[in-house]
Amino acid sequence: MSDIALATSWRGVIEEFRDQLPVTTDTPVITLCEGGTPLLYAPHLSELTGAQVYLKVEGANPTGSFKDRGMTLAVSKAVEAGSQALVCSSTGNTAASAAAYATRAGLTCAVLLPRAAVAAGKVAQALAFGATLLEVEGSVDDCLVLATQLSEKYSVTLVNSVNPYRIAGQRTAALEVVEQLGTAPAAHFLPVGGAGNITAYWAGYRQAHELGWSTRLPMMCGFQAAGAAPIVRDELVVNPQTVASAIRIGNPASWSSAVAARDESGGLIAAVSDEQILAAHRLLSSVEAVFVEPASAAGVAGLLAVAEASGATAERLRGHSVVCTVTGNGLKDPEWAVRAAPPSVVIAADVQLAANVLTLH
Ligand code: F0G
Repeated sequence: MSDIALATSWRGVIEEFRDQLPVTTDTPVITLCEGGTPLLYAPHLSELTGAQVYLKVEGANPTGSFKDRGMTLAVSKAVEAGSQALVCSSTGNTAASAAAYATRAGLTCAVLLPRAAVAAGKVAQALAFGATLLEVEGSVDDCLVLATQLSEKYSVTLVNSVNPYRIAGQRTAALEVVEQLGTAPAAHFLPVGGAGNITAYWAGYRQAHELGWSTRLPMMCGFQAAGAAPIVRDELVVNPQTVASAIRIGNPASWSSAVAARDESGGLIAAVSDEQILAAHRLLSSVEAVFVEPASAAGVAGLLAVAEASGATAERLRGHSVVCTVTGNGLKDPEWAVRAAPPSVVIAADVQLAANVLTLH
């Protein structure tokens, strides 16, 4: 590839947003060229809701989720600080991302996962990248306690979103949205699990506002799964349950900053049922042609619920731009797509038979 082609191609979020991030010329840049993801207009969702709906397709990141934005910074800063090893707890995507960036940096990586509760694609990623995987008898909340204790007692760097560099890196998604739209949207919808991402987007939008890139700030609208909705219920959930395994979290690490994002932006954090999540998941793939994992559909499920309730919030969105972050790629957890589709037809290798089944004339 020529130097010109290299100079004009996307360089990853640290180089693209260097002035907005806590890095210096001494910071080694560990990147997989994350970020620069599509902001895709969603015609059918727009028609259904009366808003101009855009999808920020974070499944297009190198490991298939938004986690890469924060991980490039957290791992670069860990290397700068002389760290040799990373540790994280995860419902899967943080683990996949940490494992990938650790490999790129030549560090070892240990991931703590709740036993038998993580989608197969994500476990495969962590293993493929060579991470040491510990399956813990407990929830992801127990895993985070363990990972934190390990980082306090031993010389390993914790790369969960309690690491401030994770949130700082994830802010770049909001900066990109503002660049892509030319302004901040009227509202931003997204799933909420550990609540790092809603915290990061709000910080990013405020930063864009302070920089004069946008004259307005969006309403932040986060959605938890009904069986894993501690922020909505305002209490810990000891045994969270939902098909959306990525957001099956009972004690969000960024709880208070998510509440602040909600309140400062005049937004909301509400719950959506598994049925609503799976319906939005199916709609995204079968109508908008965007295949996401179930948790990623929670924000879209929330938008549809708000529009259907046709209250004051729906009115505020009518005719305005709304961004929904779809956080992770559907290939990570394909089971739910297969379940929702009609059964496949088995035939002999015969052209007439195939044509008959396809009702071709
Ligand atoms: N969507 C996906 C696909 C996720 O993996 C996560 C979180 C979220 C949404 C929620 O984001 O935690 O910032 O509120 N996944 C974490 C993990 C918990 O371990 O991969 P959040």
